[in-house]
Amino acid sequence: MTPRSTVILGTGSYTPERVVTNEEISRTVDTSDEWIHSRSGIRERRIAAPDEHTSDMAAAAGRRALDAAGVAPAEIDLLVVATITPDMPMPAASCLIQHKLGIPTNAACFDLNAACTGFVYALDTACAMLASGRYRKALVIGAEKLSSVIDWQDRTTCVLFGDGAGAVVIGLSDEPDKGLLATKLGSMGENADLLYIPNGSSPSTYAASARGHFLKMKGKEIFKLAVRVMDEAARDILEQHHLRADQISLVIPHQANLRIIEAISEYLELPMERFFVNVERYGNTSAASIPLALDEARRSGRIKSDDVTLLVAFGAGLTYGSALIRW
Ligand SMILES: CC(C)(COP(=O)(O)OP(=O)(O)OC[C@H]1O[C@@H](n2cnc3c(N)ncnc32)[C@H](O)[C@@H]1OP(=O)(O)O)[C@@H](O)C(=O)NCCC(=O)NCCS
Repeated sequence: MTPRSTVILGTGSYTPERVVTNEEISRTVDTSDEWIHSRSGIRERRIAAPDEHTSDMAAAAGRRALDAAGVAPAEIDLLVVATITPDMPMPAASCLIQHKLGIPTNAACFDLNAACTGFVYALDTACAMLASGRYRKALVIGAEKLSSVIDWQDRTTCVLFGDGAGAVVIGLSDEPDKGLLATKLGSMGENADLLYIPNGSSPSTYAASARGHFLKMKGKEIFKLAVRVMDEAARDILEQHHLRADQISLVIPHQANLRIIEAISEYLELPMERFFVNVERYGNTSAASIPLALDEARRSGRIKSDDVTLLVAFGAGLTYGSALIRW
């Protein structure tokens, strides 16, 4: 029996209503629109309302993906949610989202933490579970309320991040060479100290500290590693699937910094027109970044049937990952 393909049946996304511009941030910390935009490409980000949680944004994105796919919540038997900002340490955000969407009780639901690479990890996990034949339809969501772990007094980080959610519905197809063609996942745990939130819910090697529930980052070091690992993750997967970079119709990179994306474009010798970029409107939304961009790319007609799309991400860990999808 030939293995069945795992294909994306629909995409959806959600971003909070409130737009926070660089100018607004510059009223509370010592920064400027000029500094933020020239260093990162970001102009504004969305920030969730105090009573709007990761599970709310995820459910909204999930509902839109189900609508786009024409799939009823009752058909979903697997829900994987990539997030570093679940509503609470337990239960998993996925259980709350399951209930909000009316996904049946016989569905497997779990969260996955691979930081900004989370969606690529979740996609690979869900597709492998479907390909095993034990599940039939999956909802995969990346959702974050990063505003709750950002230190709004730290200008080196607070200007870079935002809130949002993106989702895809995955099913099985008998069409060969469609859907998820290949993935490459990895992690370099020796760089855990470059991007982390020290205070967890169990004792850790990092002592609990004041403001320790906020994200800490060594931006310059991450920048250099990000460019290297994203370039390698992209090259590896292309080689693995015997494709040249110019055969990729659209690259959907993790949206952390426009300068990182431009560097990847240069390294891969692929023009920026082949890259989907929305970092100027949302900043870095971690696990939500790629599915949010994917949904915008789909809805704006940037992805057509038979196109090959490359997803490529890096994040805290440091994790990295890439995925090739034929539509
Ligand atoms: C964070 C980042 C935008 C900083 O850009 P940079 O060009 O490396 O800037 P630097 O770190 O050299 O900072 C330059 C100066 O600006 C200052 N600065 C930092 N944040 C600032 C801000 N928001 N506004 C104004 N000045 C700022 C710094 O204090 C530094 O001042 P100094 O030279 O007097 O020490 C960039 O390093 C980056 O994007 N890194 C990757 C981060 C990332 O992707 N994280 C998520 C991973 S998933």
